[in-house]
Amino acid sequence: MSINEIRDDFPFFKDNKLIYLDSGATAQKPQVVLDVMHDYYTKYCANIHRAAHGLGNHATKEYEDARQKVADFLNAKKKDEIVFTSGATSSINLVAYGFVKDNFEHVIISGLEHHSNIIPWQITEKALHVIDSKEDLSVDLEHFKSLLKKYPKSFVTLTQTSNAFGITLPIKEMTELAHQYGCKVLVDAAQSAVHTKVDVQDLDADFLVISAHKLYGPTGIGALYIKKDLHELCKAFQGGGGAIKEVTYKNTLFMPIPYMYEAGTQHIAGAIGFAKALEYIDTIGFDFIQKHEKELIDYAYENLLHVKDVITYGDTLNATGNISFNIQGIHHQDLGILLDKQKVQVRVGHHCVQPTMQSLGVEGTVRISFGVYNTVKDVAVFFAALKRSIEMIKA
Ligand SMILES: Cc1ncc(COP(=O)(O)O)c(C=O)c1O
Repeated sequence: MSINEIRDDFPFFKDNKLIYLDSGATAQKPQVVLDVMHDYYTKYCANIHRAAHGLGNHATKEYEDARQKVADFLNAKKKDEIVFTSGATSSINLVAYGFVKDNFEHVIISGLEHHSNIIPWQITEKALHVIDSKEDLSVDLEHFKSLLKKYPKSFVTLTQTSNAFGITLPIKEMTELAHQYGCKVLVDAAQSAVHTKVDVQDLDADFLVISAHKLYGPTGIGALYIKKDLHELCKAFQGGGGAIKEVTYKNTLFMPIPYMYEAGTQHIAGAIGFAKALEYIDTIGFDFIQKHEKELIDYAYENLLHVKDVITYGDTLNATGNISFNIQGIHHQDLGILLDKQKVQVRVGHHCVQPTMQSLGVEGTVRISFGVYNTVKDVAVFFAALKRSIEMIKA
């Protein structure tokens, strides 16, 4: 398989000359994903788990097969460990209300978390403890251990890969440590799962969240993995159709997980597209993805070293999926505008990690993030455009 063949799978790259380096925000979608969603809407559009008719059965089968596909992708033991949600944000909020709210006082997070993994703990009024980051932005494991000693049996919730700096945390080691202190662990794999094989059993995650749109799938759908042993402890979060066994005016008997957490009509086409996107990733394979993306990171790193007055953050050379930087004396927003004028799409700003930016003493950065369809030429065009932008600003 070549990168050109991969690019041909994505209609986005057929009709425009844009250089897309913002896959960390959302990835482009291959035609196969669009096709299966179109098929659902045009050939067997029906609600799931409700109908006695054939169309409904067809839609239900595709939806449940999609759940199985997500389970296989994450190496979950059982498909009922997978709940469809609208994305990583809603998954974390679900865990906050359905599990953490009544069972934990203390929540431990890393210093690299997305706002989605900070705000739910504030809304549910948990005592939040932030693990120190080292100078290279790696997590300070000694500080983590000291927090675990001080707050055993707390809830630990960690991003696997930082969306802003591409830093990957040693999740397996951290999960093992957290379990030694009686904690439960949520892994936010929203950024990592598209770049590296995520295996819930290997990581021994209690909860794990992903968003389809960052995995070449549709927006508005994601998955929450909940380890089977914890299902009994999880409480209903939102009530509605499809989530129940029986309702009286006095009481409701809920279905087991995952159905208890899938009240209301679900994003059926989304689930089907999501599964297709995961299949698409499987056909490329993580060996290929990692090798190719490492080339992109290496090339970007080399180029970055030659940019005058560049400021990088953390271990850029070993970054996963994205690199963040600033240019001394130039506002990142100005660079974003000038790059856009040259048809180069990057993300500038705080990347939804304001507390991390505050600890670095910056307002934001320029971030380039990669999908498997990006080429070394994309990166070269980006650096040429960056050079021109800097010259224009400094002129
Ligand atoms: C690490 C991380 N966690 C959570 C999220 C939230 O994902 P979503 O917006 O799909 O809910 C993102 C999105 O950028 C992310 O990068």
